[in-house]
Amino acid sequence: MAKNLHNYRRSYEKGSLLKSNVDANPLQQFRTWFFEAKESNDIGEVNAMTLTTIGIDGFPKGRVVLLKKYDEYGFYFYTNYNSEKGKSIAENNKVSLSFFWPVLERQVIIKGTVAKTSETESKNYFDSRPKGSRLGAIVSNQSEVIVNREVLEKNLKALEEKYETANIEKPSNWGGYVVSPVSIEFWQGRPNRLHDRILYTLDEGFNWNIDRLAP
Ligand SMILES: Cc1cc2nc3c(=O)[nH]c(=O)nc-3n(C[C@H](O)[C@H](O)[C@H](O)COP(=O)(O)O)c2cc1C
Repeated sequence: MAKNLHNYRRSYEKGSLLKSNVDANPLQQFRTWFFEAKESNDIGEVNAMTLTTIGIDGFPKGRVVLLKKYDEYGFYFYTNYNSEKGKSIAENNKVSLSFFWPVLERQVIIKGTVAKTSETESKNYFDSRPKGSRLGAIVSNQSEVIVNREVLEKNLKALEEKYETANIEKPSNWGGYVVSPVSIEFWQGRPNRLHDRILYTLDEGFNWNIDRLAP
């Protein structure tokens, strides 16, 4: 069964990153990289990011969620507040978000503190989702053990009938989170493992400091 992957490696040659050519504001730098990732047309879900939380069992856990917005307050995603991640966040609001855009040989790692978005923000986003996604959010007690798939499908069918014409209200346990960054690292793959790593860190005066890290 053993499979040796020692020769799985590639040389990274697509770009470079210098302190002198990054933006002074990491959100602007993120905007540039996000745009370039989107324009590459080679990344299926450019807004897919790994959200890592510290669980109530003490273990870190990463899982993919979708970035739905970013602005001067931070990075937004939506989920079930009663899910495993929701319970973890309620205990420890320090999280990390990371993106890997292989075609550009780039990685972005954000550390920050997370808070729930306002009810209005969550409701506006919920109402913009397709009907199937809105019903799915109601049907699924995310992260709970269920006996089989049929339970979900049966409940969905019942809800489809119930809400054939009625308005679908956002469940109170579903909504958004916004991650306010305290540091953002931009990683650009380079030849011979001498990758570029530029780290922005927020200081006590809310200014962004920029450092280069060894690869
Ligand atoms: C591409 C992709 C996008 C996803 N987007 C979301 C999302 O935006 N929100 C969400 O709650 N789960 C999303 N998921 C599912 C999560 O990875 C995860 O299974 C779910 O949130 C339950 O996680 P938890 O039990 O750790 O709370 C996505 C999964 C993938 C693979």
